[in-house]
Amino acid sequence: MNNSKDIIFEDINIDEPIPINETDRQYYFMAKAAAYVRNLCNELGRRPTCCVTTFGCQMNARDSEKLVGILEKVGYEITEDETSDFVIFNTCTVRDNANQKVYGRLGVLNGYKRKNPRMKIALCGCMMQEASAVKKIKESYRFVDLVFGTHNIFKFAELLTATFENQSMVIDIWKDTDKIVEDLPAERKYPFKSGINIMFGCNNYCSYCIVPYVRGRERSREVSDILREIRQLVKEGVVEIMLLGQNVNSYGRNLTNPISFAGLLNEIEQIEGLRRIRFMTSHPKDLSDELIETMKNSTKICRHLHLPLQSGSTRILNDMRRRYTKEKYIDLALKIRREIPDITLTTDIIVGFPGETPQDVQETIDVIRQIQYDNAFTFIYSPRTGTPAADMPPVSESAVKEGFDQVLKVVQETAREQVKRFQGMVMEALVEEVNDHDNHLVTGRLSNNTLVHFPADASLIGQIVPVKLEECHGFYYTGTVQPVG
Ligand code: SAH
Ligand code: SF4
Ligand code: F3S
Repeated sequence: MNNSKDIIFEDINIDEPIPINETDRQYYFMAKAAAYVRNLCNELGRRPTCCVTTFGCQMNARDSEKLVGILEKVGYEITEDETSDFVIFNTCTVRDNANQKVYGRLGVLNGYKRKNPRMKIALCGCMMQEASAVKKIKESYRFVDLVFGTHNIFKFAELLTATFENQSMVIDIWKDTDKIVEDLPAERKYPFKSGINIMFGCNNYCSYCIVPYVRGRERSREVSDILREIRQLVKEGVVEIMLLGQNVNSYGRNLTNPISFAGLLNEIEQIEGLRRIRFMTSHPKDLSDELIETMKNSTKICRHLHLPLQSGSTRILNDMRRRYTKEKYIDLALKIRREIPDITLTTDIIVGFPGETPQDVQETIDVIRQIQYDNAFTFIYSPRTGTPAADMPPVSESAVKEGFDQVLKVVQETAREQVKRFQGMVMEALVEEVNDHDNHLVTGRLSNNTLVHFPADASLIGQIVPVKLEECHGFYYTGTVQPVG
């Protein structure tokens, strides 16, 4: 289940000079790592196991698939067990609680490593792009074997090889890169759906956000590379793709032959066999009429748009450097609802941004009531070192808590009403898995991203089937499969 080019390790001579082309270079190191893994296998009398744990967003999830693709290729057995011979934490640093989780879990890993001294532990991802985090790891978490960041993840095979050749901690962090390395392996979590990076990094520098500092400047992949990857995935059985970028609406602007995001979507729409197209995330400031038109006319683009609001107060939006006003956001969201009536809108909201007053919170609540989101992810503002907002005076903890509870309550009320509006209808669901709690049920995802649970067995996994949405339970439905025809 990977989309890399076929490679026979026996054909790569690891005694020859290291290739110059970056993709070939990494395959060379995969062959080298495979030799070390074979030795380890002989010593252990079994295949060594590995586990990649992902924190954070879909970008990180996709990066983890790339790591797993390489680990699988070099001979590790993939597990979800953190007592494995090789454990990687792919970290997130968007809010401080993401960091704290990593430190907590690292303590647990240390215990496992004491029992299994051959165990290797690697840390990568956004948190490793922060000098303070790496310093802390170097000082207080000496048992970690490998630390790398987001910009050099394509070098994983090479770094993995280095851990076999070094006893001390291997650390390789790049500040930024304009490099995009194509054609490396990736192992998908689901055989029928996949994330696809269409761009990396972010240039927006919202004043609260650390992502541009840890993911670097914005760069788009070439259209031809994206299309080639999707065509290959479709050949392998993928029916749904999620195009990934921090701000997909600015895709293509910095390519040698510039193209709009809508232009890219139109190209992807033509791919035969592909059934569903999703994307994430859309910054409201760059959402064009061309995109709304493209979504409206498409038979494949899903009826869901995640449109982060962050705040409903124009004054706070200004301090957040979001570059839209409350009114502009509302106009845009209502236009989308008017043009594509069956769309669901979801959003992100931050409560407790420096300087936020109860009046500002009311403005946010006013937008939620007007737009009627199907879901909203509400976050408490977390100061991130190095971002401009971290130097602004904080809101009192009690005011944050009060604002957060108020926002959450309104989100839940409006979402409940909104999600329910499709009750009784028949809609297509892509069956994703057997239900966690009841194995007589499967879980399917509607085009509008809402989940529906219905009686069926695992044989339907990966198929798109019509389902009657019998009953809405807050954020999800229960239903029954309908006969086709
Ligand atoms: N690129 C996306 C967001 C990526 S981060 C966009 O611009 O919409 C995902 C979400 O985390 C953001 O939408 C924001 O709501 C939240 N977030 C980012 N930085 C934060 C911080 N410092 N404190 C709290 N929430 C934050
Ligand atoms: Fe962060 Fe803003 Fe970039 Fe989103 S657009 S990743 S919130 S800086
Ligand atoms: Fe976290 Fe990095 Fe994503 S900071 S939200 S994993 S881009």
